[in-house]
Formats: sequence, C-alpha cells, structure tokens
Amino acid sequence: MIVRQEIKHLLQQPPVGELVTVMGWVRAWRGNRFMVLNDGSGPQTLQVVVDQDKFPEETVRQIGFHACVRVVGTLTASQGSGQSVEVMAEQLEILGANDLSSYPLQPKKQTMEYLRENAQFRMRTNTFSSVFRVRHGVAYAVNKYFHDRGYYYLHTPIITGNDAEGAGEMFRVSTLDPINPPRTEAGEIDYNQDFFGKATNLTVSGQLQAEIGALALGKVYTFGPTFRAENSNTSRHLAEFWMIEPEIAFADIDNDMNLAEDFVKYLINFCLEQYPDDLAYLDQRIQDSEKNMKTADRRPMGLVDTLKFVVANDFARVTYTEALDILMRSKAYKKGKFEFPLSWGTDLQAEHERYLVEKHFERPVIVRDYPKDIKAFYMRQNDDGKTVAAMDVLFPYIGEVIGGSQREEREDKLRQRMQEMDVHADELAWYLQLRTFGGCPHAGFGLGFERIVQFITGMGNIRDVIPFPRAPRLADF
Ligand code: 4AD
Ligand code: MG
Repeated sequence: MIVRQEIKHLLQQPPVGELVTVMGWVRAWRGNRFMVLNDGSGPQTLQVVVDQDKFPEETVRQIGFHACVRVVGTLTASQGSGQSVEVMAEQLEILGANDLSSYPLQPKKQTMEYLRENAQFRMRTNTFSSVFRVRHGVAYAVNKYFHDRGYYYLHTPIITGNDAEGAGEMFRVSTLDPINPPRTEAGEIDYNQDFFGKATNLTVSGQLQAEIGALALGKVYTFGPTFRAENSNTSRHLAEFWMIEPEIAFADIDNDMNLAEDFVKYLINFCLEQYPDDLAYLDQRIQDSEKNMKTADRRPMGLVDTLKFVVANDFARVTYTEALDILMRSKAYKKGKFEFPLSWGTDLQAEHERYLVEKHFERPVIVRDYPKDIKAFYMRQNDDGKTVAAMDVLFPYIGEVIGGSQREEREDKLRQRMQEMDVHADELAWYLQLRTFGGCPHAGFGLGFERIVQFITGMGNIRDVIPFPRAPRLADF
C-alpha cells in the first residue's frame, strides 16, 4: 500500500521535526537544490531541499518541470523567505520522468487556446488546478444547498424526444444508419424504424421532466449535462454545458426570484469559505493581467472583493419595460455605443445586460416580465396580455447566469400558446396532462453551471471552466 501525506494538510499544522512522505509534480527546480512540489490537494506548494551529494546523479538529473516524484524527508522550519517549512530530502524517487524537450507544456506562460488543445496536461497548471477545484466545490454546494432544504435530486433523460425550449437548437440522436437510412415510400427518412420509433435529440433542458417531479415531490432539482446546437463561438456559450434546474410546486415568480438570489449567494459564499487560497490565487492572476491596462478597462474591484460584494448586497430587480427605459435613456444608447438595436419587444443582448449590471446598478440585476414573444411557450402569461412571468438573473462580466419563470398552469392558455408558437400538442400530451389532472401554480429556473463557475473564478472564457469543452478541434478528448 502506498502511504503519503497531502501537502495541503501538511501545511495546515506542520509536524516539524517528523519524517514525511510526499508525492507530486515539480512546479519549479531552482539552483539545483530547491524543488517546489504540488500534489493537487490545494494550490499550496512544498519546498524540498535536495542535497545533490546524497542522491545518484541520474536521479537529480531527472528532476524537472512537471516530473512526478516521491520524497521522504524531515519537515523543518525554513531558513528562506517565502515558506515557513520545507522538507530535507532523505529519499528521492522519480515516479515519472518528464522529457522537457518534447513535453507539450513549457515552464513559461502559454496561451489559453494552446492549453485547451493540450487538455491532458492543462490541469497541472496553477490556474486550471485552482479552477477545477473550485468547480468541484460549486457542484458539491449545489447538492448540499438543495438537500439541506428538502429538495430531491431528479435525474432527467439525456436522450429525449422533445425540445424543451422550443428553439430548435437540438443535436439529433439516431440509431439509424447515417449513410443509408431506411426510407418511406415517399423517400423520406423513416424514423419509425429508429430505435426510439421517432426522431430523438440530446436534451436542451431537463425542465419539462422536472415539472413532473415537482408536481409529485413538491421540490426537486436536476443537475446534468445539456446540449445546444447554437453558436458556441463566444466566451459564454458551450455546445455541451451543465445546468441546475430547481422546480417547485406552490410557487410564483416572486418565490422563484427569491430562491435564485439566495441560491447563487450561497454558492459564492461556500467557495469564499472553502476555497480561499484558490480564489486568492485567481484574484492575483487577474490583477497581474490587468497591470498594463488603462484604469477604465480594469475591473473596479478584485475578484474576492467582488464575490463578497455580491453576497452582501441585494440584487436589483426591474421589469423588462423598466430595464428598456433605463437603456434607452442612457448616454451609451444616445451616443450609439450599443451594437444591437433596442425597442420594446427585442431581446436584451449581452452588451445591454452588462450595461445594466456594471454601469447602471453596479450589482447583479433580476429582470422580470419579458415580452411573451421572445420567451418559451411554457411561461405563465401576465394579465397585461403582452408579457410573461419570466426572470433572468444578470451578473457582471457574464450577463445572464439564470433564466427562469413561473409556469403556465392553465391548460387552455398553455394550449393556445403552444399553437401560436407551433409547438405540437400531440408530442407533449404528457406535459399537458400535468395541467388537466391535479396541477398547481409552480415555478423554476435554470442556472448555467459553467457561467457561475466562470463568475466565481473570474475566468474570461467559459471554455476554461469545463475540463473538456466541446468545440471543433477540441473533440479528441
Ligand atoms: O435560459 P435558458 O435557456 O433556460 C432554460 O433552459 C430553462 N428550461 C431553465 C428553467 O427554467 N428550468 O438556460 C438557462 C441557463 C442560462 O441562463 C445560462 O446561464 C445557461 O443556462 N446557458 C448556457 N450556458 C453555457 N452555454 C450555453 N450555450 C448556454 N445556454 C444557456
Ligand atoms: Mg435564457
């Protein structure tokens, strides 16, 4: 059995004077004497002092960037600055040598794009190891939040026959021979011979099935991968992303907004408490990258201060109509600074969302009561006949992190809306039955998991907060 001590724990209460065994990857090798080790347990590194005379030349020669080593030695108080303790190596074993001349990563700054293409190694960098530790923490906090409040985790299908958002952005799934599919007499592909007897796709959202759960278990949530065949060539879209979708019975749009605000604050606070060292590292990284920027281009607050601010302050809440009014009266609008046009009925673009959050309210904003024609068929119609009880939560730097709504529980209104929006009632008979038989007011939302991880880690591109982003050229993984 392999026995080792994790660096993070060793440094919490260092057993000075004791023999310790550590294993990890070399982050730096200085002056042919000081080896800096990290083992993934945290962002902390441990300095190991290697007395060259004690070890075979071949072993010492193999110490280098990202080589994997095992060290046994005595933990002592450090003479040098920068660390309080260090290990005096007594045994040294190279577990995995690393030939730097052909290693894809080099001990220098690499572009994010290059690191994505080398995803087999990118988690060994300081930045990505911190990001993926925090990502884990957010996932854990999601389950903890809901479990502690009596919600049930519902696993909804990945392969499905429906388009939950009605936006036609699905990836087709088929067991039919793609080159020579069976055809009907009319020459069309015969989906009745498909495994599922009809065209199926990867889910865009687990919401419709979550509604089934809510109308029996009261409070449920889904947390799983979702897929969108949409333009994913932006810094906040992925073709494959994870979504968290709570759905609650006996709830209206106000309950929904309150839950959304409380939930995201909890996730952020959890990370502040559990991952202070990773967040401090990521904070410093952003400050370093902004050093040469003009003040106007820099973030007004550091990462950790931003997170604390978001947790401590109420989100602003406005209706879509009010938001539009603010935007159209803004100097930015009057000076033609927005790329996309604005008028009542158009959807807000990322630039508008970011203006509201970063320039106008200077805090997260919840926008509610959107025009019905730019929102999905299942949203509850408001009495004005023009808007629906929808809400989006908008964050600095990211824009929309949450989209949700009160659901249309009135069967006649839902049928009418489906007809107007060309959503086929026969394909969603089960969904309509939830209204016919024992329905009730209910509401829910979807939080884009990567978007909240992006916000918490301060990463600029959403592809850098998911271990294996789905995009052309990156699909090998
Ligand atoms: O606003 P959306 O499309 O809402 C729904 O899917 C609803 N069914 C949710 C619900 O009410 N249960 O997506 C929800 C969130 C967005 O706010 C965004 O954060 C994220 O999912 N999202 C994406 N994240 C990454 N890449 C994409 N392509 C995304 N599309 C949506
Ligand atoms: Mg949305």
